[in-house]
Order: sequence, then C-alpha cells, then structure tokens
Amino acid sequence: MLSQALKSLLRPDKRVVVLTGAGISAESGVPTFRGEDGLWKKFKPEELATFDAFISNPQLVWEWYEYRRKLISEVKPNPAHHSLVKMEDFFEDFHLITQNVDGLHQKAGSKKVIELHGNIKRNKCIKCGQEFEELEFSSKEIPPKCTCGGMLRPDVVWFGEMLPAQAINEAFKVSSLCDIFFSIGTSAVVYPAAHLPVVAKQGGAYLIEVNIERTELSDLADEVFLGKAGEILPEIAKVIREA
Ligand code: OAD
Repeated sequence: MLSQALKSLLRPDKRVVVLTGAGISAESGVPTFRGEDGLWKKFKPEELATFDAFISNPQLVWEWYEYRRKLISEVKPNPAHHSLVKMEDFFEDFHLITQNVDGLHQKAGSKKVIELHGNIKRNKCIKCGQEFEELEFSSKEIPPKCTCGGMLRPDVVWFGEMLPAQAINEAFKVSSLCDIFFSIGTSAVVYPAAHLPVVAKQGGAYLIEVNIERTELSDLADEVFLGKAGEILPEIAKVIREA
C-alpha cells in the first residue's frame, strides 16, 4: 500500500512532523467539527466557542464543555494514536502537533505534544489567568470561580483568540525544517494550523495527507491516503517496525 518513495523516506534520521485534527479521534468516538455529523452542524460556534458567547451566557458555554469533557473522559485512544507513539520512538527528530483538545495523544503515550488549541481538561481564570486542572476546584457554582473571584473558562482557543504563542511558534519552526510532514484527519481550513503543511512543503518536505476524503490540502500533497486514520497509520507503523 505504501509507495516506494515513502518507504525509502521512513528512516530514523528523517525529521518528521505530524499535524492531527479531529478526524484522528473520530474512531475513538469523539465527534468531528465539520462534515455530516460534525458538531458545527448541530451547534453554532458563535454561541459556544467565542469569548463573547461565554460572557453572554457562561452557564450554557460551561455546560457544553462539561458535556464534551464527559464524552472525552469515556473514550480511549485508537490504533492511529498508538501508531504515532511508535513513530515518536522510531524517528530521532519527531514532532506531534495537534489541533485537538481531547488529550488522547497523551493518553496513548505520546510524550511530547504541541497543543495548538489548548486542552479541554484545563481551565483558566478569565481575570487573573490562573490555570486549574479539571477537578481542582470545589465550588459548585456554574461556572466555578477562581480564588480571585473571576470566572473559570475552559483552557481552549476560541474563535477570534490567539493561539498559545510558544506552541504556534514551535509548530511553524519544526514544520519549516522537516523532511516529512503528515496531515492527519484535519479539514485543513482553520488557520493558522492549516498553514503548517504549506510551510513544510515550501521548505521541501514530502507532504502526506491521511483523510477519509480529499481536502483543500490534497492537491498540494505528494501522497494522499484516502481512508481511516486508524487503518492507515498502523500500516505505516508496520513499515517502520520492519525497517
Ligand atoms: P474538522 O471537523 O474540521 O475536520 C475533520 C477531518 O477529519 C475531516 O476532513 C474529515 O474528513 C476527517 N476524518 C473524519 N474521520 C476520519 C477518520 N476516521 N480518519 C481520517 N480522517 C477522518 O476538524 P479539524 O480540522 O480538527 O477549533 O478542525 C480544526 C479546528 O476547527 C478544531 O481544532 C476546532 C474547530 O473549530 C477549535 O476548537 C479552536
């Protein structure tokens, strides 16, 4: 299934960057954002995923995130997440960048993950910025309050917000310097993340896309694997095991 070109590139000394999106967690049971059953088909992002929405209706936004947290806490990483752990062990220079907030890469055992859009388990105070882990607060208020009196919000990036500077800077740096870039399970429409594969390609990387359908990125890719990440990534992991 893998081309000879790709097989010959899968060597430990190659610099590899992987960008993942909601599609990699779909087979674990986490809904994606776009597409037929996507969250943004049923819910309006402007009512749930902006700072203004939170200020206008903090209870609704908090409860929506609680619903997603519960769902995420009940699911397990799938073979695609596990294959990326194997790739991290195999390649000497390997960077995993994710747009996902579900923490499934870490749950699978990935040691270093660049989280571009935050993590749904964490919260932060809108007033003083203090961070809290999921169950660290005892307040029964919805949303709970920080010791300074400010409301807590999920530590995720909402529409119109800046991405964490360190994460996005590192992501651009490693993408511009890599030999192979994998774009996995992302619709590649949300910027600046969607620009990372482009930067990689401009820097000379071999660009691979894994998705169940073609995306805006497909024409730029050197190889497109059309199919489920949970089936394709184990094939790649198998090839590196045999290398
Ligand atoms: P999307 O929901 O936009 O795209 C998911 C992609 O995964 C689609 O292109 C699907 O075709 C593909 N897909 C679905 N199931 C798959 C499978 N089993 N294997 C491989 N691919 C599959 O999700 P993202 O691209 O991650 O932002 O969305 C980017 C950002 O938009 C998210 O991080 C979120 C959202 O608004 C924030 O929360 C800030």
